[in-house]
Amino acid sequence: MTTTATAADALAVIDARTGGMRVKMGLVLGSGLGHLTEAVEGVAIDYDDLPGFPHAGVSGHTRKLVVGRLEGMPVAVFGGRAHYYEQGRADAMRLPLEVLAGLGADTLMLTNAAGSFLAEIPPGDLMLIADHINYSGRSPLIGEPTDARFVNLTNAYDPGLRAALKEAAGAEGIALREGVYAWYSGPNFETPAEIRMLRLLGADAVGMSTVPEVILGRFLGLRCAAVSVITNMAAGLGNEHISHEHTKASAPVGAAKLERILRRMLRAGV
Ligand code: HPA
Repeated sequence: MTTTATAADALAVIDARTGGMRVKMGLVLGSGLGHLTEAVEGVAIDYDDLPGFPHAGVSGHTRKLVVGRLEGMPVAVFGGRAHYYEQGRADAMRLPLEVLAGLGADTLMLTNAAGSFLAEIPPGDLMLIADHINYSGRSPLIGEPTDARFVNLTNAYDPGLRAALKEAAGAEGIALREGVYAWYSGPNFETPAEIRMLRLLGADAVGMSTVPEVILGRFLGLRCAAVSVITNMAAGLGNEHISHEHTKASAPVGAAKLERILRRMLRAGV
């Protein structure tokens, strides 16, 4: 008989290792941003030890959960995510996010690597996600039987958290423009024609993650915010050769800025 892991199973493993610590915020780290797990003082648990956590993985992700404190704030940091393109499941992050809610978090902060459409937000800069376009057309809530599935996504990216992030960025002297993020399924990158289309549709950047997690986060009642680390100009808009290697190599520039913003925001107690 096969049994399916539940969030309670993973929570039991975490509670046994942490003594039942509860957190305020969850942080999901995108490609090339995983080193932030090392900044957290706490208990690190390999995803392989957590029932129901993603087993495959994408290079550039650290694949561990760290529960502890960052700038004094109790946090759970997910060093890597599962993507829709790995197994064709838009709900790939549902169980880890249920675990986060079970850990007591009320806030979900997401990060990703993305390609920019705007010269004003070049590689190495950050974009604060103001809203998204679910271009993949997939919802992680397909199959959810309860009425809670009819999630309202107006202000899905919490205005209060966005203001706090902008204030922290300003105090650090770091540019943080807002924009619309388009979710493209991946794993292949987009064609230049697709980028022109997404631009016409109103997007400012494109990436392969985050949107399903925001939908799940709102479903679970979490306040959500997300920041893109711009690693390249999107296809057809720049001269660099777009590749996963390039994404991983470029992410640390923006990631260092993002870390400063997050640390300042957490020190302020948000
Ligand atoms: N497209 C999609 N995902 C990405 C990109 C891109 O240009 N850069 C980093 N992640």
